[in-house]
Amino acid sequence: MSFIAVIAAARPNFMKVDPLLRALDAAGLPSELVHTGQHYDQNMSEVFFHDLDIKAPDVDLGVGSGTHAVQTAGVMVEFEKYCFERKPSWVVVAGDVNSTVACALVASKLGIKIAHLEAGLRSFDWGMPEEINRVVTDRLSDVLLTPSPDGDENLRNEGVPENRIFRVGNIMIDTLLRLLPRAKESSIHQTLDIEPGKYLLGTLHRPSNVDSEESLTRLVEILQQASSWHPFVLPVHPRTKQKLEQYGLRTQLDANDRIHLLDPLGYLDFLALSSQARAVLTDSGGIQEETTVLGIPCLTLRENTERPITVTEGTNTIVGSDEKLILSTLEDVLATDSLNASVPELWDGKTGERCAQVLKEKF
Ligand code: UD1
Repeated sequence: MSFIAVIAAARPNFMKVDPLLRALDAAGLPSELVHTGQHYDQNMSEVFFHDLDIKAPDVDLGVGSGTHAVQTAGVMVEFEKYCFERKPSWVVVAGDVNSTVACALVASKLGIKIAHLEAGLRSFDWGMPEEINRVVTDRLSDVLLTPSPDGDENLRNEGVPENRIFRVGNIMIDTLLRLLPRAKESSIHQTLDIEPGKYLLGTLHRPSNVDSEESLTRLVEILQQASSWHPFVLPVHPRTKQKLEQYGLRTQLDANDRIHLLDPLGYLDFLALSSQARAVLTDSGGIQEETTVLGIPCLTLRENTERPITVTEGTNTIVGSDEKLILSTLEDVLATDSLNASVPELWDGKTGERCAQVLKEKF
């Protein structure tokens, strides 16, 4: 029987594939969920299956971490075996992680049709591994499911035929809107003893921010200063944890009782925090989108974004890496109560259904 293989790999994929799997089921399209194992810790993977109530993966390729080549090649070898054995007729890959491009490469050479969920995003920054993954995956895909008009435009500029581009909206927002009522039941604010609306929330994991000692030291100084204005909650990504320890920066953060260093959080606790933060500081992609929908000010600690609509329409400000600029922008944000922002078109909780409709026509 022909079916669609849906790939999940790393933390930012889980909230994207879940609404798709539900919509495929509802549309009567058979699917299998393949977890590549790129993220494998309880708090980077399993907790999301629990919080989102995602069906258990039909197969776990168990690839794990490694250099880019080791990780990408590992996924390719294991996914090719899976394709030989199971023979999917379509593969859906999401986002921009190494597993996304690895599975797209395998599928394209085996003549399996590919749909890319979250297609067309571009930072135009080739120093980001994710940008390479995005461009290559889009080039190999038969169906490009985009979240916003800038995505359509980027694909057209790269010569992608119009009949491959389908604007479906932002699928992460399906999960956010479905689970926001449950996130409100989280007791994380009491556990941390912080008041809704009166704390800052941060996440950091981009290699460009955390891999070098100079830049991580600068970010720690920013956290220290920001925490004097509001308590600062920082769930720490494994990559960042390693680097904080390696550069001897962890002790000073632990010593500051206004900074809450946490292990990575599950979806519901994180959403409980992001939906009620005074402001969020992040280098993540998805969090720029979630804060836009939640109406929470977001400062993006990067030089660019592949999600410009969060700036032009949403609550996002790109602040780069200059310490003075970051702190003065944060001060301005904290001094203002009103936000001039709106939710982009089709970020409405129904993207999964639109994806399933497109796939049903093609399948
Ligand atoms: C990956 C994605 C990035 C995404 C991010 C979200 C790529 C190129 N990068 O980056 O786009 O925004 O996930 O988290 O695909 N580790 C653990 N436990 C885990 C997973 C990772 O300890 O469950 C450690 C690894 O050993 C490694 C580090 O974290 O040292 C980085 O993991 P990796 O998967 O290489 O990339 P991320 O930085 O997580």
